[in-house]
Amino acid sequence: MPETWWRGAAIYQVYLRSFADGNGDGVGDLAGLRTRLPYLADLGVNAVWLNPWYPSPMADGGYDVADYRDIEPVFGTLTEAERFIEEAHALGIRVIIDVVPNHSSTASAWFREALAAGPGSPARERFWFRDEPGDWKSIFGGPAWTQLPDGQWYLHLFDPGQPDFNWTNPEVHQEFHDVLRFWFDRGVDGIRIDSAAVLVKDFDGGDPDGYTDLDEVHEIYRGWRRLADEYDERILVGEVWFPDQERFARYLRPDELHTAFNFDFLACPWEPAALRRSIEQTLDTHIPLGAPPTWVLSNHDVARVVTRYGRAETSWDHGNRRDGVPSDLELGHRRARAAALLAMALPGSVYVYQGEELGLPEVDDIPDELREDPMWTRSGHTVPGRDGCRVPLPWSGEEPPFGFGAGEPWLPQPEDWRKLTVEAQTADLGSTLNLYRAALRLRRDRLGDGTLTWLESRPDVLAFTRESGLTCVVNLGADPVRLPPHESVLLASGTLDGEELPSDTAAWLA
Ligand code: GLC
Repeated sequence: MPETWWRGAAIYQVYLRSFADGNGDGVGDLAGLRTRLPYLADLGVNAVWLNPWYPSPMADGGYDVADYRDIEPVFGTLTEAERFIEEAHALGIRVIIDVVPNHSSTASAWFREALAAGPGSPARERFWFRDEPGDWKSIFGGPAWTQLPDGQWYLHLFDPGQPDFNWTNPEVHQEFHDVLRFWFDRGVDGIRIDSAAVLVKDFDGGDPDGYTDLDEVHEIYRGWRRLADEYDERILVGEVWFPDQERFARYLRPDELHTAFNFDFLACPWEPAALRRSIEQTLDTHIPLGAPPTWVLSNHDVARVVTRYGRAETSWDHGNRRDGVPSDLELGHRRARAAALLAMALPGSVYVYQGEELGLPEVDDIPDELREDPMWTRSGHTVPGRDGCRVPLPWSGEEPPFGFGAGEPWLPQPEDWRKLTVEAQTADLGSTLNLYRAALRLRRDRLGDGTLTWLESRPDVLAFTRESGLTCVVNLGADPVRLPPHESVLLASGTLDGEELPSDTAAWLA
């Protein structure tokens, strides 16, 4: 049994704008989410993580936060958020929210105050204002410095609507401690820390990447951990994207973050040797620290897993998103189902991004004028960006909006999603939704935190056993493979051929 809830949790990521719309304005909201809580309880997840829900001009889907202590009116009210937390808890679901400490919004009180106070003022010291721009590039494309009418420039590693905080200023530290307390006091169980590794800047070293993973960032999280530890079982989850495992592990030292997203696994191609290496390396990094690994196949920033795994090149690379690259969706679908059983059988916690349980593909044909991702505009309309994985969920019915809400969804849903609705998949025993339901339920009883033992297998097969006796076998080769000895087949991602496990299929055995 997991020692604490988060060590072996299945965490469902809710992209609120696209989950369920309660008031008919075409945008998902808390009212919609609250009515769908029974769906999440039935799915069998232990926790939800919600993307930012704060007041925001939506320059970057809410990652431009205007007020860290309130709720975006399009999503609802603070009172509704408090009710939602209570209702989730009553169903045994913990709540993780997103906190964005690297940057704010140009609409925030602090930034407006800084603009009004003018150059040289203490209000400008909370951000990075300069008389001359530096040469860093924005992660969304274009320069990272924008000039104001008064002549000064301000730093934004992301969109110009997202001015970076100055973390050498003690006021900024104090502010975020207060924000964490604000939400912990309201019963929030965990914080997902956005862009966790880029808070500290080194402008003088001449490095074009002088903001990634500087040593001083760890002191910030030590302070956050002390604060979280004053409460009961509250966790800090880092969004830490970089390949160096040794540097990654430093965020998981016992006095820092509880867990961090395993993007190495997400980015890994659907290839047996690479996956085995990623899994082994993940376990080697985490076990000595006593931190549970996490397993992530998708989120709101990357192409849907069905689409990725159906492409000729199945790895993920932020710098080369391969938007619009053709994909064999049937193949991708088969692999995504096998990958889900793999991820859910591994020791640690697992994330499910909304729609992953429905096998939704990436939507590649969103009309240009409807695209909202700043990557699209900032890249000069060369990178379509992340809207294709953020299309509102199909719940029921034969045509859009597929039960998402009464209004026209903020991004159009493909007509053929009628086959992928929650309603259609509930009725179909072999559906991806029913596979996820069954797997999450079995996982709850028999898996979660712990270790694994590899079984001997062909090099193109991954096979391991967990403490509970459950064996997971994944066939990544072209030829069928004979299942190892077992009492029964608990679950399979595709149809077995007697004792043979077909290509791109996974099975759980007792
Ligand atoms: C993180 C978020 C992403 C956002 C960025 C800037 O990477 O996941 O959606 O655009 O931070 O806040």
